[in-house]
Amino acid sequence: MVQTLWLACEMEEIARLHQGEEMTANTALISLQIHGDDRGSLIALENGLNLPFDVKRVYYIYGTKPDVARGFHAHKKLKQLLIAVSGSVTVKCEYADRKKEYTLNRPDEGLLIEGFVWREMHDFSPDCVLVVLADEYYSESDYIRDYRRFLNLEKETNK
Ligand code: TYD
Repeated sequence: MVQTLWLACEMEEIARLHQGEEMTANTALISLQIHGDDRGSLIALENGLNLPFDVKRVYYIYGTKPDVARGFHAHKKLKQLLIAVSGSVTVKCEYADRKKEYTLNRPDEGLLIEGFVWREMHDFSPDCVLVVLADEYYSESDYIRDYRRFLNLEKETNK
């Protein structure tokens, strides 16, 4: 009973967050333009020009210890672009009964994750620097960290 009420409250909150917008869940690889010359390469990311959303936050994950996996959460409403600017990482995504796995290993490729997607990051190479751009500031209340809760919420919102 308490569990059902909690689920209902969370569904209401997610619906409120997505008010007026379609509740999306999507992942896609995006090519980033390289400005290369005989000195090497340069990539520029600019709001409104070559990014799929306006960026409010940038963070990076590096020095990940061997056999460590990270993530294991979904966001109620967040857009992110993940770029392995060095090294490689496997990103596992799950939404709408679909499981997708991406290997990020190029600075000129970004993985867009938007909406209600469960994500896990595995197999970080020792030299991996994973840069993440996000359309919102950090907010713990936007996280769903429990996989069962994610599946339940997904099932209910897609009814
Ligand atoms: P955490 O959510 O555990 O990272 P991951 O999902 O990659 O496993 O975040 C680690 C810590 O960093 C945690 O204390 C929250 C903090 N943090 C911020 O302060 N700002 C941020 O933008 C992010 C992503 C995390």
